Amino acid sequence: MHKLTQKEVFKDLNLEKIDFYLLNTVDSTNTFAKETPLKKDYLIVISEEQTAGRGRQGKQWYSPDAGNIYMSIRLKNNSPTPLSLIVGLLISEAMDSVSGQKINAGLKWPNDLLINNKKVCGILIESEINGDNNEFIIGIGINYSLPQKESWWGDIGELADILPREKLINSILKKITFYAENGYQNWKSAWEKRCIHMGKEIKAISNNQNDYELGKFKGINEDGKMLLKTRNELKIISSGECSIKGIY
Ligand code: BTN
Repeated sequence: MHKLTQKEVFKDLNLEKIDFYLLNTVDSTNTFAKETPLKKDYLIVISEEQTAGRGRQGKQWYSPDAGNIYMSIRLKNNSPTPLSLIVGLLISEAMDSVSGQKINAGLKWPNDLLINNKKVCGILIESEINGDNNEFIIGIGINYSLPQKESWWGDIGELADILPREKLINSILKKITFYAENGYQNWKSAWEKRCIHMGKEIKAISNNQNDYELGKFKGINEDGKMLLKTRNELKIISSGECSIKGIY
């Protein structure tokens, strides 16, 4: 298998602003990035394999050495826009721009990416206080090759010719660094356009998975919170995840 190279991954990026680690194996690129102080504008950690990959809500992220993407970006972000939603949007856009096609990977609140109704990418955002600064660690996992252990797991192996891993990483890095430096004006409508469950009946599930609420997804507000029309009211939901019948 073709291993990632510095030349391809960081093509046309300003390495004066970036500290990076390209690893063969690591427990978790997010953990590594959390433990490594930010000395430049960005710290980027990419590994071919993770032995203790972490997902949202304390779940594991299955991370074999199989040509998938496991990457973390540590940065400062003082913008009020919700990083977790923006990152999903930028990755969906990166897939279109690298392939030159409208792949239109769908967004599922808050930040899963789906193709053909299967999850192909997960995002885990963590923060770390450093003096007066709030720093964020954006963890991105994109699957190219994965055994079908869960019905809702998918991968983009079939698209590998038009979405080569190194080009996709490069494009995501360019988009995230551009966003960090310039913001994203119409992110909310761009996010809603790519969302797969606008106006649909969904189940909003709390973080501890114990409570849920049924309703119609009415989009998001400026903070990235979910607007859910239940039988009685329009609710604003800030955390947890959602589930769509027949998908997951
Ligand atoms: C999710 O549960 O959907 C989020 C998955 C995030 C996985 C990525 S892989 C790179 C980074 N390192 C980790 O341990 N997790 C994130």
